[in-house]
Amino acid sequence: MKVLVSDSLSNEGLEILKEHFTVDVSTGLSEDELVKMIKDYDALVIRSGTQVTQKIIEAADNLKVIGRAGVGVDNVDVDAATRKGIIVTNAPEGNMISAAEHTIAMMMAMSRNIPQANASLKAREWKRNKFTGVEVKGKTLGIVGLGRIGSEVAKRASGLEMNLMGYDPFISEKRAVELGVKLCTVNEIAKGADYITVHTPLIKETKNILDEEQFTLMKPGVKILNCARGGIINEEALAKALASGKVGGAALDVFVEEPPFKSPLLDFDNVIVTPHLGASTQEAQVNVAIDIAKEVVSVLTGGLARNA
Ligand code: NAD
Ligand code: MLT
Repeated sequence: MKVLVSDSLSNEGLEILKEHFTVDVSTGLSEDELVKMIKDYDALVIRSGTQVTQKIIEAADNLKVIGRAGVGVDNVDVDAATRKGIIVTNAPEGNMISAAEHTIAMMMAMSRNIPQANASLKAREWKRNKFTGVEVKGKTLGIVGLGRIGSEVAKRASGLEMNLMGYDPFISEKRAVELGVKLCTVNEIAKGADYITVHTPLIKETKNILDEEQFTLMKPGVKILNCARGGIINEEALAKALASGKVGGAALDVFVEEPPFKSPLLDFDNVIVTPHLGASTQEAQVNVAIDIAKEVVSVLTGGLARNA
């Protein structure tokens, strides 16, 4: 059987696939190129770079499984794949610590103006007063989405002695208590939090979950984080709230359009950004590559998909 790997995947995962199948690695393919190639393959392994569209799926006459080395499957037309009997599976656990650590790193970097101060000093300026920051201890962090990553963020923020509010319609009060999180509505978080971070999937219920209405309710100077998916926070509403001064800063790893070169959000001095680096650690990339390789081997050899 043949496997196409269309985004970069760690060797540890490639080796597992190669023990069982013929593996071709070809990254940066256009939709048309994938449409032409895909009929030869039994499995497609991707990260976030490949958009698996309906057109590609319709041409995928031999495809049995699409394996996403990571969490989000929003770059796959899952409905079209399901109609064609193709299993879509992911590797949800391997990068959660990295994504949570990145969120905390972004929160601290934003609080202490580290990216701005770094750029200033490298431009041979010595402006100590300009970059006075704030402590996070005693501040309230609102967490929207308390799944794998949101929970890990909660644990780490507890260690920083922050107060925690959270919204997730699918977690129990008991779990919230274990995490030290006070369960609230999104609008209560908007009103009460000094920092708000989102950790939901991007689905119709979570698209624009922070929108103009919520920005209006927020405390002046609130700081916003998105290390989950572009579009969970309405980017236009965020830009408006930054321009008015209502939002005091934002730390963004993900964008509606990536790369976000046309986004006005990049022009605000108090917005710090990274190019979708949440899962970009050595550990996470090895973990997700191994997990997804094992998953693809299992499906193609008649076993179960654990994460379909
Ligand atoms: P998860 O499935 O473990 O957790 C998501 C949580 O969101 C669940 O607890 C779920 O109950 C909750 N949820 C669902 N609908 C909701 C709603 N309407 N309102 C509030 N909460 C809702 O997922 P995860 O592994 O924690 O991933 C979270 C996000 O982070 C995903 O969007 C994922 O794609 C993204 N992610 C980004 C990076 C990165 O590189 N920046 C890395 C890994 C994951
Ligand atoms: C994910 O959903 O796992 C993240 O977007 C990380 C990635 O694959 O780059």
